[in-house]
Amino acid sequence: MKRNTFIFTTVGLCCAIFDTSAWSVNNFLMTGPKVLEFQTVIFLCKAYLTYSTSVSVGAHSGIEECKHQFNWERWNCPESALQLSTHNRLRSATRETSFVHAISSAGVMYTLTRNCSMGDFDNCGCDDSRNGRVGGRGWVWGGCSDNVEFGERISKLFVDGLETGQDARALMNLHNNEAGRLAVKEMMKRTCKCHGVSGSCSIQTCWLQLAEFREIGNYLKIKYDQAQKLEMDKRRMRAGNSADSRRTTVETFSNVLTTELVFLEDSPNYCMRNASLGLHGTEGRECLQGGKNLSQWERRSCRRLCTECGLRIEERKIEVVTNCHCKFRWCCVVNCLDCKQTVTKYYCSGRRAMSNKTRRRNRGPKR
Ligand SMILES: *[C@@H]1O[C@H](CO)[C@@H](O)[C@H](O)[C@H]1NC(C)=O
Ligand SMILES: *[C@@H]1O[C@H](CO)[C@@H](O)[C@H](O)[C@H]1NC(C)=O
Ligand SMILES: *[C@@H]1O[C@H](CO)[C@@H](O)[C@H](O)[C@H]1NC(C)=O
Ligand SMILES: *[C@@H]1O[C@H](CO)[C@@H](O)[C@H](O)[C@H]1NC(C)=O
Repeated sequence: MKRNTFIFTTVGLCCAIFDTSAWSVNNFLMTGPKVLEFQTVIFLCKAYLTYSTSVSVGAHSGIEECKHQFNWERWNCPESALQLSTHNRLRSATRETSFVHAISSAGVMYTLTRNCSMGDFDNCGCDDSRNGRVGGRGWVWGGCSDNVEFGERISKLFVDGLETGQDARALMNLHNNEAGRLAVKEMMKRTCKCHGVSGSCSIQTCWLQLAEFREIGNYLKIKYDQAQKLEMDKRRMRAGNSADSRRTTVETFSNVLTTELVFLEDSPNYCMRNASLGLHGTEGRECLQGGKNLSQWERRSCRRLCTECGLRIEERKIEVVTNCHCKFRWCCVVNCLDCKQTVTKYYCSGRRAMSNKTRRRNRGPKR
């Protein structure tokens, strides 16, 4: 599998070059350690081009979901955190990294699966492998089940293919990618249709359908809260690539359930800006206060983002102009007045001198 993914991503790179210059050497292409037949490369290249758009759409939807889930948190899924590639020098191995990997990989699998059910790909359609079989009391499999196996297979090629290393970080990313894909499967829902005399529903046909992506995001957010830190033997890890240390690392990972997210490093508190780590800090962030219908998590956002980071909560009155007192005049004009309305918004601003107490609190672990 590993070898396959490597070839697939290499071919991805080749395909891009391929467009402009012929890369053939006596009908053979060098792709890393393997020489592939020209026909094989054409085949892989076509496959690559077929799926690559869906893969980036999927990764993007994962990131949008990440932004939603972390909207009122100190770390709010900044673009800089989203480089999945192992070549990224900002690569960290925190709890947040684990979520980014899981949600992106889920997004890719989700989109590919959807595409498949929608008939966007020639070589793939609904999963009807169980159709006709009895599924349970009063129902049989039927209809169009989403083909998650397809989505899983292709997303794995693309997303896991980015991890070329064999170190603990690579293993962590692969583990969390897998957890993301499992979440998509885990959240699938059985949907049924009634049959029988005049809708008596004496028999139903049922199929498995993808959940809303939001639900998968909510589920993975809980997994994020429960993520496990793996303690690696630092000395051994630094000692390098000895077969012995690799075996120990692999063993450590194999002791964790695939459904659980894992990380290796503690997170910074995300209050402070640190450009070299790609962190923006919370200064200037908006937070919520005083709204009638806020969840407890939202209601605490000003404290979390500003006060506990040694920042002031700044109140800003913002004037918004809306259409109001609209009158419909025969025929056919709507006349409205401009109504000015003042809304109050809250922002974190100005680092004030931290009291010793605050400083101590901020040094503690996140959350
Ligand atoms: C797959 O679905 C996404 C989003 O629904 C869409 O943007 C993309 O074009 C689809 N891919 C293909 C090959 O139709
Ligand atoms: C940013 O983070 C790096 C790595 O943790 C650290 O060495 C550096 O001092 C930090 N910079 C600032 C301005 O805090
Ligand atoms: C308040 O929140 C509840 C549940 O989240 C929602 O159903 C309701 O529509 C909200 N009300 C307003 C005024 O936003
Ligand atoms: C904060 O702690 C330092 C020593 O750690 C002390 O000198 C200083 O007076 C303290 N400031 C306040 C406001 O307590």
